[in-house]
Amino acid sequence: MLVSAKEMVEKAHAGHYAIPAFNTNNLEWTKCILAGVQEAQSPTIIQVSEGAAKYMGGFKVVADLVKNLYEAMGITVPVALHLDHGTFEGAKKCIEVGFTSVMFDGSHFDFDENVAKSKEIIALAHSKGISVECEVGGIGGVEDGVASAGELADPAECKAVAELGVDFLAAGIGNIHGPYPADWKGLNFERLDEIDKAVNGKPLVLHGGSGIPFEQVHKAVTLGVSKVNINTELQLEFAAATRKYIEAGSDLKGKGYDPRKVLKPGCDAITAKVVELCKAFGSAGKA
Ligand code: 13P
Repeated sequence: MLVSAKEMVEKAHAGHYAIPAFNTNNLEWTKCILAGVQEAQSPTIIQVSEGAAKYMGGFKVVADLVKNLYEAMGITVPVALHLDHGTFEGAKKCIEVGFTSVMFDGSHFDFDENVAKSKEIIALAHSKGISVECEVGGIGGVEDGVASAGELADPAECKAVAELGVDFLAAGIGNIHGPYPADWKGLNFERLDEIDKAVNGKPLVLHGGSGIPFEQVHKAVTLGVSKVNINTELQLEFAAATRKYIEAGSDLKGKGYDPRKVLKPGCDAITAKVVELCKAFGSAGKA
């Protein structure tokens, strides 16, 4: 059975490690992520953006898919299904159709509206035992076509949203979605420290987890980060392995297209990366 993310993230916060939250995009990715976390014996969050959910056939398809794969594959580690960067309407829909965790991202609203809407989603989700992530300030880069400037979140705003009873909080600290540019300045630990003190023990979420040097992730964990989001890194792994297979092989020539063969190298690469990241974030063996 899929579980809320609250308990696993709080345990990680207390135990000074991070739960990896992997974005899925389709059936194969979901299977490969589940295989990886089972191998690593890691609790995990499988998350989906609204764009990816639309591609997969809608929120209910995603919920049914993840639930069924969890059972069919005999997975025993705790897994939460989470909406990533949800809209107000999207979060409500996911609460209805079987997600066990949702993010409401109201960071593009003015602060009062973000607070009012966050409050409503928290009350609704909590009445059903579903965990909630909210966001303060933008995270840089592009997420589902929506770009934000990557500001540093305001600690006073983080404190106000933490006090609403959110389960974990995403706050910009110089992190960005997508690949990091060569001149990236790194995470802003001074700001993270201020936010961590302001939110008084509330677990924090590091978006844009792909490509952040592990030492920086480890330092962030000592300052309250307990969930690290990974999307781009799995995409890059998948693409590289698939490219290599196609360039080297002749399977595609004259034999038609068998997705079971063509997608396998990419899928295996995702599973291997998932295991590696669970070990790096300290969640391996914590199931
Ligand atoms: P990356 O694509 O940079 O890994 O970020 C993922 C993320 O933060 C999803 O919300």
